[in-house]
Amino acid sequence: MLMSTLDTFKRRGVRKTLALTWAYVRGWRLSRKAAHAEGKTVVWGPLHLENVNGSLCLGSGVLFFPNAKIFLLGYQQPARLSIGSHTSIGHRTELHVGREIIIGSNCRISWDCMLLDHDYHALDGAEEIFKPINVADDVYIGCRAIILKGVHIGRGAIVGAGAVVTRDVLPGAIVVGNPAKFVRWRAGKSQVSGPVLS
Ligand SMILES: CC(C)(COP(=O)(O)OP(=O)(O)OC[C@H]1O[C@@H](n2cnc3c(N)ncnc32)[C@H](O)[C@@H]1OP(=O)(O)O)[C@@H](O)C(=O)NCCC(=O)NCCS
Repeated sequence: MLMSTLDTFKRRGVRKTLALTWAYVRGWRLSRKAAHAEGKTVVWGPLHLENVNGSLCLGSGVLFFPNAKIFLLGYQQPARLSIGSHTSIGHRTELHVGREIIIGSNCRISWDCMLLDHDYHALDGAEEIFKPINVADDVYIGCRAIILKGVHIGRGAIVGAGAVVTRDVLPGAIVVGNPAKFVRWRAGKSQVSGPVLS
């Protein structure tokens, strides 16, 4: 055991091994706060978790880059955030969960992205609106993209850097801009008929 640990230190270098160890320790601590965690979680730096009233479900091998932020707010009922296996959440990306955000497996959510399932205030004096966000498996969200309440992003879709997504994205579609519009289908994905943005 000791020899194999020393071997790992020699191969990877002390600093890299310590950094990886800390990433697993942070991941383990986060998993302990989760309602459900399937396997190892890796947290590469500080992670801000503000759990007012909610629960977190993590698949195995979920990866958080430094300074990601999770807000589980749950104003009228508990909020729920679910992140599928082998999905990564980029530097400083923020997940604001008033009610529900579900992110599938093998998704890449880049840095400085923002996902909000509510607006943080009632519009025109009406009640505040919560609409779940659903990101299917294999979705790639470019840096600085914003995903607003009620959006469903289909399997394998790509959201361009800086996009503001206000409407659903069909599986395999690439959308860019503000508001996000379809530009083409992702290579290797079959075209899906019907409107791309509903
Ligand atoms: C969306 C993306 C994947 C598309 O790449 P691509 O298929 O090579 O796209 P193209 O460069 O052929 O662009 C297609 C059109 O969309 C436009 N476009 C591409 N990306 C755009 C973006 N992020 N915002 C606005 N318009 C964009 C192009 O200007 C082009 O428009 P045109 O046909 O009128 O000239 C890529 O542009 C992108 O945004 N990547 C994200 C990068 C990133 O965030 N990396 C983080 C690392 S995890």
